[in-house]
Parts: sequence; structure tokens; C-alpha cells
Amino acid sequence: MQAMARSHPNIALIKYWGKRDTTKNLPAVDSLSLTLGGLWTKMKIDLSLNLDRDELIINGVIDEPNLLRVSQCLDLVIGKNRKFAKIISECNFPISAGLASSSSSFSALVVAANAAMKKESNTQLLAAQAGTISGSAARSILGGIVELNNISNTIRIKQLSNATRWPLSVVIAITDKNKKNISSSQAMNLSSRSSPFYSAWIKNQSPDMKEARLAVKNKDFDKLAAVSEHNCLKMHSVMWTTKPSVVYWNAATLNCMHAIRDLQQIGEPVFFTMDAGPQIKAVCLPENETRIIKRLTEIDGVVSIMKSGLGEAPTSSADL
Ligand code: DP6
Repeated sequence: MQAMARSHPNIALIKYWGKRDTTKNLPAVDSLSLTLGGLWTKMKIDLSLNLDRDELIINGVIDEPNLLRVSQCLDLVIGKNRKFAKIISECNFPISAGLASSSSSFSALVVAANAAMKKESNTQLLAAQAGTISGSAARSILGGIVELNNISNTIRIKQLSNATRWPLSVVIAITDKNKKNISSSQAMNLSSRSSPFYSAWIKNQSPDMKEARLAVKNKDFDKLAAVSEHNCLKMHSVMWTTKPSVVYWNAATLNCMHAIRDLQQIGEPVFFTMDAGPQIKAVCLPENETRIIKRLTEIDGVVSIMKSGLGEAPTSSADL
């Protein structure tokens, strides 16, 4: 009745933006991501306390806004006739700020809930459960470089490269620790209804996936860089042209992008990606990491820097 799981967030290089089924939370496009070993969420679940409602504590503070989604996740994994749970979540990075905290949280939660109930599970079932609550969370069920595909009325995840085959580093420049104004879920639903670029976005995803998959296979950094930046900017163009427009960037985000472009000009292997928030993620090779950190630290508006290599799949323990 108790378990703990630890899971890593992932960042997409080929992005998920838009849903083909909002009830089942199925993504409209395939996506490809890096699992970040340096960032984690630990999730403890206890179903043995005879509570009269679920309780959620995030980083030591009782949390109401995220409780509904957490309860829905437990209903999905355990069933609606379950006991109420106390869920204690701890995270070593800012949450709801565009750092994919929902990916580590909900992957950790499904793994912990399955472990607490001693349920038979497997990678694809865990991914489907995590993905039903948060699309990106499905990808955190595997480590390294992960691909998510849409298959009839479900999803399938696949590891393209393990955490050690092609070690990449991710330097994260945090430019604002505040929570975002609009959730990615709400924003992508608005985009699908109102951006004139949305249909082009959907149509052009499969060539980007193909290119990125090949770049990973060949460990071709330049090819992965080009397609990832292109895909990221396309997603942000859809966001910007949503009505009302969704702009997650701030001045420091843009300054970091320019700095990364300058580094590329002098031959540094690095590229940027941004999600539903103003933080910049600079993907580079481990041997270049120090130089990238130094350059991004100098930029006005960068409040802190985190770094990460690639990480493994979630782990769990039912022995608390
Ligand atoms: C920009 O997974 O947070 O990070 O399924 O509605 O919970 P929901 O959305 P979420 O969206 C992630 C969007 C993104 C791109 C990505 O991770 O692929």
C-alpha cells in the first residue's frame, strides 16, 4: 500500500504540441526527447492511512491546484474504488515553469501507484497511463533518447539510444522561476483552434521526426541541432500565432538564443530548445559544457543555471 518512485523529466527536441483526442489526451504528433538524469522528482504514495480525501504535498507544502490531476491519475491506475492516498512529491528543479515537471511527476506517480498496488505492468502500459494524464510524461518512462509514436488509438514509446551510447549534455538557463500564466494543455488547445499555422505544423512533423531519428542513429550532432531548432521555432510560431497569442519567452530567452547562435558561428557544437516557458535548454557535448555554462551565466536575466546528462528510466521501491 506504500511505494516510492523516482523519475526524470524529459525535454523534447521534436515537440508535441496539440492533441488528436482531448478526452484520452492523445497527442496530435509524434515526438522525440532527451531524458534528463540530473533533474528528478521523487514521489511517495501511501494508501494505508484511511484518509477521507487525497492529500498532496509538493516540496513540503500542501498543494491544492495539482490535486485534481493527481487524483485522476490514481483513479486511472488503481481504479475509482480505491482508498484515498497521501502523496508526497519532491523535485530538485522549479515546477510549472516550462521545465517539464509534469513529465517527471506523472511518470513517477504511475510507477509509484503501480508499485504500491503490486500491479503487473510494463513499459507501454506505464507510458499509456502517464500519457493519459500528461502527454510528455509518457516519454519519461524510458531513459536516454526516446521516441513517442501515435498508434491507432494509443501511443507507443521506443528508446532510440540509451543514456550512454551518445552522451549529450543539457545546460538549462533559468530566466524566470515563476509559474507560467497559461498551462501547455490550455495553450495547445487554443493553438489547434486558432493558429493559422497549426495544420502546417501537424503536416510537417513526420519529416522532422525522420531527420532527427537518423541523426540520433548516426550520432550526427549538426543534423540533430538543425532539425531540433527548426522544430522548436515552428512550435513557438504556432504559439505566437494563437489567438490570443501565447508567448512564453522573455528578453533573456532571446538573448540566450543569440548567444547560442554566436557560439555556433565559432564552431561550438550547441543548439537551443525551449518549451512552454522562458527557460533555454542548450544541448551540447559533455566536453563543451563548461564553456556553454560560462557564456550563458554572463547573460542579463539568467537567474540560475542547471546542467544535466542523459538519464535512465524511473526506479521504484515498495519497501519504505
Ligand atoms: C511544449 O505534456 O505538458 O513541453 O499533455 O496537456 O499535459 P499535456 O501537455 P504537456 O505538454 C508538453 C508540451 C511541450 C513539448 C513537449 O514536451 O513535447
